[in-house]
Amino acid sequence: MEFHHPWSAIIVLPLCGILLCRGSDLITADKDVSAFDGKTAVLKCSYNGSREINSVKWTNKSSNVIAERSRGDDFLPDSRIKFVESSEKTNGSIIIDPVRMRDTGTYTCGYDVQGQVPMEKAITLNVKQDSTSLWKIVIPIVVIGLLLSIAGIVFFLYKKGHLRKAFR
Ligand SMILES: *[C@@H]1O[C@H](CO)[C@@H](O)[C@H](O)[C@H]1NC(C)=O
Ligand SMILES: *[C@@H]1O[C@H](CO)[C@@H](O)[C@H](O)[C@H]1NC(C)=O
Ligand SMILES: *[C@@H]1O[C@H](CO)[C@@H](O)[C@H](O)[C@H]1NC(C)=O
Repeated sequence: MEFHHPWSAIIVLPLCGILLCRGSDLITADKDVSAFDGKTAVLKCSYNGSREINSVKWTNKSSNVIAERSRGDDFLPDSRIKFVESSEKTNGSIIIDPVRMRDTGTYTCGYDVQGQVPMEKAITLNVKQDSTSLWKIVIPIVVIGLLLSIAGIVFFLYKKGHLRKAFR
């Protein structure tokens, strides 16, 4: 829904809560995103409209701003988080590199477009443990355990004298 006069926003805004505002149709975002711990996560969100964009703003589950792009300025408090496109506002996708388990949660991508009610989309990020990195821990433990068991059996048999005879 677009407003050509600032007063129309005051009249139409309450209606937006009742009837769904068409403006948010112009925001394309992935609803659910999965990524592996330590790898890269891309949270996609873009505006497909013809109006001038004032700002693109991302918030995390604790409602903190994690990325914001307004008139030529980027606000990026976390060094792991960057906008995918440089100085482009229509594509406001962000990248988290490296992504961590604690990043799991719901994010909001918000567009403030001239003459329109601010629009938002929620994106859920699910960070999973990389199964190959799990094997890197499990395999050495199993191998060490096996070697210790073999050493234990050999030692036991040696003590009992079975092997001592065999070695003579
Ligand atoms: C963007 O808008 C154009 C024109 O309204 C439409 O043809 C196109 O399908 C839209 N793209 C997306 C990704 O919604
Ligand atoms: C949300 O972002 C703020 C600012 O970057 C950060 O300090 C905080 O830990 C984040 N919260 C969560 C739950 O990710
Ligand atoms: C925005 O950028 C991302 C990452 O490069 C890309 O995957 C996505 O298709 C782009 N979206 C649009 C609407 O161009």
